[in-house]
Amino acid sequence: MIQIAIDGPSGAGKSTVAKLIAKKMGIVYVDTGALYRTVGYYVRQKGVDPKSHEGVSALLGEIDIQVKYENGEQCVYLNGENLGDKIRQNEISKYASDVSAIPAVRAFLLDTQKSIASQNSVVMDGRDIGTVILPNADVKIFLTATDEERAKRRYNELIAKGADVRLEDILKEMKERDANDKGRKIAPAIPAEDAIIFDNTGLTGEESCEKILEIVRDVQNKRKEGVLQPTN
Ligand code: DC
Repeated sequence: MIQIAIDGPSGAGKSTVAKLIAKKMGIVYVDTGALYRTVGYYVRQKGVDPKSHEGVSALLGEIDIQVKYENGEQCVYLNGENLGDKIRQNEISKYASDVSAIPAVRAFLLDTQKSIASQNSVVMDGRDIGTVILPNADVKIFLTATDEERAKRRYNELIAKGADVRLEDILKEMKERDANDKGRKIAPAIPAEDAIIFDNTGLTGEESCEKILEIVRDVQNKRKEGVLQPTN
Protein backbone atom coordinates (compact mmCIF):
# COMPACT_ATOMS: atom_id res chain seq x y z
CA MET A 1 0.00 0.00 0.00
CA ILE A 2 1.17 3.49 -0.78
CA GLN A 3 -0.26 6.89 0.09
CA ILE A 4 0.67 9.91 -1.97
CA ALA A 5 -0.65 13.29 -0.80
CA ILE A 6 -0.82 16.19 -3.22
CA ASP A 7 -1.89 19.50 -1.75
CA GLY A 8 -1.82 22.99 -3.17
CA PRO A 9 -3.98 25.86 -4.41
CA SER A 10 -6.46 25.64 -7.27
CA GLY A 11 -5.01 25.63 -10.76
CA ALA A 12 -1.72 24.15 -9.54
CA GLY A 13 -2.51 21.12 -11.70
CA LYS A 14 -3.13 18.73 -8.79
CA SER A 15 -5.90 16.74 -10.42
CA THR A 16 -4.20 16.46 -13.83
CA VAL A 17 -0.98 15.26 -12.24
CA ALA A 18 -2.67 13.00 -9.69
CA LYS A 19 -4.76 11.32 -12.38
CA LEU A 20 -1.63 10.60 -14.44
CA ILE A 21 0.18 9.22 -11.40
CA ALA A 22 -2.79 7.00 -10.53
CA LYS A 23 -2.90 5.63 -14.06
CA LYS A 24 0.82 4.98 -14.28
CA MET A 25 1.04 3.37 -10.84
CA GLY A 26 -2.30 1.53 -11.04
CA ILE A 27 -3.56 3.12 -7.83
CA VAL A 28 -6.73 5.03 -6.92
CA TYR A 29 -7.06 8.77 -7.47
CA VAL A 30 -9.11 10.57 -4.84
CA ASP A 31 -10.26 14.11 -5.59
CA THR A 32 -11.23 15.44 -2.15
CA GLY A 33 -12.20 18.88 -3.48
CA ALA A 34 -15.16 17.11 -5.13
CA LEU A 35 -16.53 16.29 -1.68
CA TYR A 36 -16.46 19.93 -0.54
CA ARG A 37 -17.94 20.91 -3.90
CA THR A 38 -20.77 18.44 -3.31
CA VAL A 39 -21.59 19.97 0.08
CA GLY A 40 -21.33 23.43 -1.52
CA TYR A 41 -23.67 22.33 -4.30
CA TYR A 42 -26.31 21.16 -1.83
CA VAL A 43 -26.02 24.32 0.28
CA ARG A 44 -26.49 26.44 -2.84
CA GLN A 45 -29.48 24.36 -3.91
CA LYS A 46 -31.06 24.99 -0.51
CA GLY A 47 -30.39 28.73 -0.71
CA VAL A 48 -28.37 28.73 2.51
CA ASP A 49 -25.51 31.17 3.17
CA PRO A 50 -22.34 29.06 2.72
CA LYS A 51 -20.56 31.08 5.42
CA SER A 52 -23.24 30.39 8.03
CA HIS A 53 -21.88 27.72 10.36
CA GLU A 54 -25.33 27.14 11.84
CA GLY A 55 -27.19 27.08 8.55
CA VAL A 56 -24.72 24.74 6.84
CA SER A 57 -24.31 22.45 9.86
CA ALA A 58 -28.08 22.02 10.04
CA LEU A 59 -28.11 20.70 6.46
CA LEU A 60 -25.45 18.03 6.96
CA GLY A 61 -27.93 15.48 8.33
CA GLU A 62 -29.77 15.63 4.99
CA ILE A 63 -26.66 14.85 2.97
CA ASP A 64 -25.52 11.37 2.01
CA ILE A 65 -22.31 11.32 -0.01
CA GLN A 66 -21.04 8.17 -1.70
CA VAL A 67 -17.83 7.95 -3.69
CA LYS A 68 -17.78 5.29 -6.40
CA TYR A 69 -15.28 4.42 -9.10
CA GLU A 70 -16.82 3.82 -12.51
CA ASN A 71 -14.56 3.08 -15.49
CA GLY A 72 -11.62 4.37 -13.47
CA GLU A 73 -13.35 7.72 -12.82
CA GLN A 74 -14.31 9.01 -9.40
CA CYS A 75 -18.05 9.66 -9.23
CA VAL A 76 -19.61 11.48 -6.31
CA TYR A 77 -23.21 10.64 -5.49
CA LEU A 78 -25.29 13.12 -3.54
CA ASN A 79 -28.36 11.44 -2.03
CA GLY A 80 -28.25 8.81 -4.75
CA GLU A 81 -27.63 11.17 -7.69
CA ASN A 82 -24.33 11.15 -9.58
CA LEU A 83 -23.58 14.86 -9.80
CA GLY A 84 -20.99 14.52 -12.57
CA ASP A 85 -19.78 17.88 -13.83
CA LYS A 86 -22.44 19.88 -12.00
CA ILE A 87 -20.00 20.43 -9.15
CA ARG A 88 -17.43 21.89 -11.56
CA GLN A 89 -19.47 25.00 -12.35
CA ASN A 90 -17.64 28.19 -11.49
CA GLU A 91 -20.30 29.34 -8.95
CA ILE A 92 -19.77 26.16 -6.95
CA SER A 93 -16.08 26.95 -6.35
CA LYS A 94 -16.89 29.81 -3.99
CA TYR A 95 -19.50 27.73 -2.15
CA ALA A 96 -16.98 24.89 -1.75
CA SER A 97 -14.35 27.25 -0.39
CA ASP A 98 -16.79 28.82 2.08
CA VAL A 99 -18.25 25.58 3.43
CA SER A 100 -14.77 24.05 3.71
CA ALA A 101 -13.93 26.58 6.46
CA ILE A 102 -16.70 25.16 8.67
CA PRO A 103 -15.38 22.58 11.18
CA ALA A 104 -18.60 20.49 11.08
CA VAL A 105 -18.22 20.10 7.30
CA ARG A 106 -14.62 18.95 7.60
CA ALA A 107 -15.58 16.48 10.34
CA PHE A 108 -18.46 15.25 8.19
CA LEU A 109 -16.13 14.43 5.28
CA LEU A 110 -13.25 12.99 7.30
CA ASP A 111 -14.30 9.34 7.51
CA THR A 112 -15.11 9.07 3.80
CA GLN A 113 -11.59 10.23 2.94
CA LYS A 114 -9.79 8.15 5.55
CA SER A 115 -11.72 5.02 4.72
CA ILE A 116 -10.87 5.16 0.98
CA ALA A 117 -7.17 5.56 1.86
CA SER A 118 -7.26 2.69 4.35
CA GLN A 119 -8.61 0.28 1.74
CA ASN A 120 -6.60 1.29 -1.32
CA SER A 121 -3.23 2.57 -2.43
CA VAL A 122 -4.05 6.17 -3.23
CA VAL A 123 -2.91 9.43 -4.68
CA MET A 124 -5.16 11.93 -2.98
CA ASP A 125 -5.35 15.64 -3.74
CA GLY A 126 -6.76 18.49 -1.71
CA ARG A 127 -5.65 21.13 0.79
CA ASP A 128 -5.11 19.22 4.03
CA ILE A 129 -4.15 15.75 2.85
CA GLY A 130 -0.55 15.87 4.08
CA THR A 131 -1.44 17.76 7.26
CA VAL A 132 -4.72 16.19 8.44
CA ILE A 133 -6.10 13.34 6.34
CA LEU A 134 -2.90 11.35 5.70
CA PRO A 135 -0.30 12.77 8.10
CA ASN A 136 1.78 9.61 7.58
CA ALA A 137 1.61 9.62 3.78
CA ASP A 138 4.63 8.06 2.07
CA VAL A 139 5.09 11.07 -0.19
CA LYS A 140 3.76 14.59 0.36
CA ILE A 141 3.87 17.12 -2.43
CA PHE A 142 2.74 20.72 -2.20
CA LEU A 143 2.12 21.64 -5.81
CA THR A 144 1.99 25.27 -6.82
CA ALA A 145 2.51 27.68 -9.74
CA THR A 146 2.33 31.45 -10.20
CA ASP A 147 -1.08 33.10 -9.73
CA GLU A 148 -1.20 34.09 -13.41
CA GLU A 149 -0.42 30.61 -14.66
CA ARG A 150 -2.94 29.00 -12.31
CA ALA A 151 -5.67 31.44 -13.36
CA LYS A 152 -4.87 30.81 -17.04
CA ARG A 153 -5.18 27.05 -16.57
CA ARG A 154 -8.51 27.39 -14.78
CA TYR A 155 -9.74 29.86 -17.42
CA ASN A 156 -8.81 27.48 -20.26
CA GLU A 157 -10.61 24.63 -18.52
CA LEU A 158 -13.80 26.67 -18.10
CA ILE A 159 -13.68 28.02 -21.66
CA ALA A 160 -13.24 24.49 -22.99
CA LYS A 161 -16.45 23.59 -21.15
CA GLY A 162 -18.24 26.45 -22.87
CA ALA A 163 -18.37 28.83 -19.89
CA ASP A 164 -18.52 32.57 -20.51
CA VAL A 165 -15.82 33.92 -18.19
CA ARG A 166 -13.07 36.56 -18.20
CA LEU A 167 -9.49 35.81 -17.24
CA GLU A 168 -9.25 38.83 -14.93
CA ASP A 169 -12.36 37.72 -13.01
CA ILE A 170 -11.01 34.20 -12.68
CA LEU A 171 -7.70 35.55 -11.33
CA LYS A 172 -9.45 37.79 -8.83
CA GLU A 173 -11.85 35.07 -7.62
CA MET A 174 -9.02 32.56 -7.39
CA LYS A 175 -6.93 34.89 -5.21
CA GLU A 176 -9.93 35.46 -2.93
CA ARG A 177 -10.56 31.72 -2.57
CA ASP A 178 -6.88 31.02 -1.95
CA ALA A 179 -6.80 33.64 0.81
CA ASN A 180 -9.97 32.11 2.26
CA ASP A 181 -8.51 28.57 2.17
CA LYS A 182 -5.09 29.60 3.52
CA GLY A 183 -6.40 31.92 6.21
CA ARG A 184 -9.10 29.71 7.73
CA LYS A 185 -8.71 28.56 11.32
CA ILE A 186 -9.28 24.88 10.63
CA ALA A 187 -6.98 22.84 8.37
CA PRO A 188 -5.55 25.86 6.56
CA ALA A 189 -4.32 25.14 3.04
CA ILE A 190 -0.62 25.28 3.84
CA PRO A 191 2.19 22.77 3.18
CA ALA A 192 2.85 20.02 5.73
CA GLU A 193 6.23 20.47 7.42
CA ASP A 194 7.58 17.44 5.60
CA ALA A 195 6.04 18.24 2.21
CA ILE A 196 8.15 18.79 -0.88
CA ILE A 197 7.22 22.13 -2.42
CA PHE A 198 7.06 21.87 -6.17
CA ASP A 199 6.44 24.93 -8.37
CA ASN A 200 5.42 23.58 -11.76
CA THR A 201 5.03 26.90 -13.60
CA GLY A 202 5.80 26.31 -17.26
CA LEU A 203 5.68 22.52 -16.99
CA THR A 204 3.09 20.28 -18.61
CA GLY A 205 1.06 17.79 -16.58
CA GLU A 206 3.21 14.96 -17.99
CA GLU A 207 6.42 16.72 -16.95
CA SER A 208 5.12 17.40 -13.45
CA CYS A 209 3.94 13.81 -13.17
CA GLU A 210 7.39 12.50 -14.15
CA LYS A 211 9.07 14.63 -11.48
CA ILE A 212 6.72 13.38 -8.79
CA LEU A 213 7.16 9.78 -9.94
CA GLU A 214 10.93 10.24 -9.54
CA ILE A 215 10.32 11.32 -5.95
CA VAL A 216 8.04 8.33 -5.36
CA ARG A 217 10.60 5.90 -6.83
CA ASP A 218 13.31 7.42 -4.68
CA VAL A 219 11.23 6.88 -1.53
CA GLN A 220 10.42 3.32 -2.60
CA ASN A 221 14.11 2.54 -3.25
CA LYS A 222 15.18 3.97 0.08
CA ARG A 223 12.54 1.79 1.74
CA LYS A 224 13.91 -1.29 -0.01
CA GLU A 225 17.43 -0.41 1.11
CA GLY A 226 16.13 0.07 4.65
CA VAL A 227 17.19 3.73 4.73
CA LEU A 228 13.59 4.84 5.29
CA GLN A 229 11.04 3.03 7.42
CA PRO A 230 7.47 2.77 6.18
CA THR A 231 5.41 5.37 7.99
CA ASN A 232 2.24 3.33 8.20
O1 DC B 1 -9.67 21.40 -5.31
P1 DC B 1 -11.01 22.14 -5.52
O2 DC B 1 -10.86 23.48 -6.17
O3 DC B 1 -12.01 21.28 -6.20
O4 DC B 1 -11.54 22.40 -4.03
C1 DC B 1 -12.71 23.15 -3.79
C2 DC B 1 -12.62 23.82 -2.44
O5 DC B 1 -12.64 22.85 -1.42
C3 DC B 1 -11.36 24.65 -2.21
O6 DC B 1 -11.64 26.04 -2.24
C4 DC B 1 -10.87 24.28 -0.84
C5 DC B 1 -11.72 23.13 -0.39
N1 DC B 1 -10.94 21.93 -0.09
C6 DC B 1 -10.50 21.78 1.20
O7 DC B 1 -10.71 22.66 2.03
N2 DC B 1 -9.84 20.66 1.56
C7 DC B 1 -9.59 19.69 0.67
N3 DC B 1 -8.95 18.59 1.05
C8 DC B 1 -10.01 19.85 -0.67
C9 DC B 1 -10.68 21.00 -1.03
